[in-house]
Amino acid sequence: MYGAKNSVLKLMAATLLAPGRHRLANVPGITDVGIVCDLLAAMGVEASHSGSGTAGSLDISVPCEVTPVAPYELVEKIRASIVVLGPLLARYGFARISLPGGDDFGQRPIDMHLRAFEDLGARFTTEHGYVEGRCDRLVGTRIVLEFPSHTATDNIMMAATLAKGTTVIENAAREPEVIDLAAMLTSMGARIEGAGTSRIEIEGVDTLGPSEHRAIPDRVEAATWLAAVGLAGGEVELLGARAEHMEMLLEKLALIGVHAVDTGAGILATSAGRLRSVDISTLPYPGVATDYKPFLVVMLSVASGVAIVSENIFAGRFRYVDELRRMGADITTKGHHAVVRGVRRLSGAQVRSTDIRAGAALVLAGMVADGTTEVSGAEHVDRGYENLAGRLAALGADVRRESE
Ligand code: EPU
Repeated sequence: MYGAKNSVLKLMAATLLAPGRHRLANVPGITDVGIVCDLLAAMGVEASHSGSGTAGSLDISVPCEVTPVAPYELVEKIRASIVVLGPLLARYGFARISLPGGDDFGQRPIDMHLRAFEDLGARFTTEHGYVEGRCDRLVGTRIVLEFPSHTATDNIMMAATLAKGTTVIENAAREPEVIDLAAMLTSMGARIEGAGTSRIEIEGVDTLGPSEHRAIPDRVEAATWLAAVGLAGGEVELLGARAEHMEMLLEKLALIGVHAVDTGAGILATSAGRLRSVDISTLPYPGVATDYKPFLVVMLSVASGVAIVSENIFAGRFRYVDELRRMGADITTKGHHAVVRGVRRLSGAQVRSTDIRAGAALVLAGMVADGTTEVSGAEHVDRGYENLAGRLAALGADVRRESE
């Protein structure tokens, strides 16, 4: 499995905490990594990607002084840019970040990030679409998150590594990527306890040093392959995939009809016969991730029976359903719920990808639909997958990437 996008983007931001040469391994060749390289370059940081797949790596050289500004042109392309705010405030006492707008999932506020940094001693002003933060050295405190936001937890954890005294994050996100970031920060000299639990304690240190770190495998990419096995049938071993990072998903998949075994080297997935419907609710980790949902909905579209799918993280994350309907899926949505009535066959159509996971899900749907499916907006898929079409084709699917 290639490195986890949602880990790598944060690991890249973490390099801002220490001058010197950092090296990140297992970095996939995806557009989002390229955009964060551009963001770092705009600040005066050299970042270059080489190799591909699990051999992909990033060399990042952070100078002693950077330009602590994240411009609109880049933040607009990737909302995760907000994750540079914590490191910049902690190390330079100043950051100017373009405010991220909404996106295809609906509203994407950053209020939890800002409130937490205020608790740590930062002050913010907002003007001309930019939020500007200032502080003397941040001071550790107890922060209670009203929701276990993944990126807010990452951002606060990074900032707290250089704060004076101890910071406690209560109701912290527990994603494996948070543990991965804590592991990298620890290798840089940070003192962190409890990453992966709801209570993370960070004892601030005066300085951090550069790191060499290998990103964990991408569990969302693993989920994509597992769904492909469920839809097409057959057997595939996902080398490097970590079953312990997706226990709830594997339980749901077993009910749907995909059998997954932890082989030690990865996950061996098998599936035969028609899939079965099962209700699904997305929840923060360790619940079923919202990122898995589009793949699960495609599987349920062709399963036997009726399923209710509830989205509890991003209210607007059902846009791709209109595209699936165009392919013959029988899905009704109301608010953050969808009723999926399984049909026997989908029918190939021209459809549009609206985000990374929705795009990948439409490709999977096209794989089992009658006739040809053309997914436009493939650049969304490239944001999170290196060579999705080529790798599906290597497994026997008739999928190819048309040039733009
Ligand atoms: N939220 C707020 N205020 C905040 C922050 C979040 O109200 O200040 C809300 C969000 O609007 C949402 C909920 O809290 O309703 C959870 O959002 P969270 O902050 O956990 O999401 P995120 O960190 O912005 C990451 C992933 C997403 C993934 C979500 C949920 C990254 C870069 N992105 O987003 O991944 O869907 O967690 O697990 O880590 C993707 O990979 O395609 C993707 C969208």
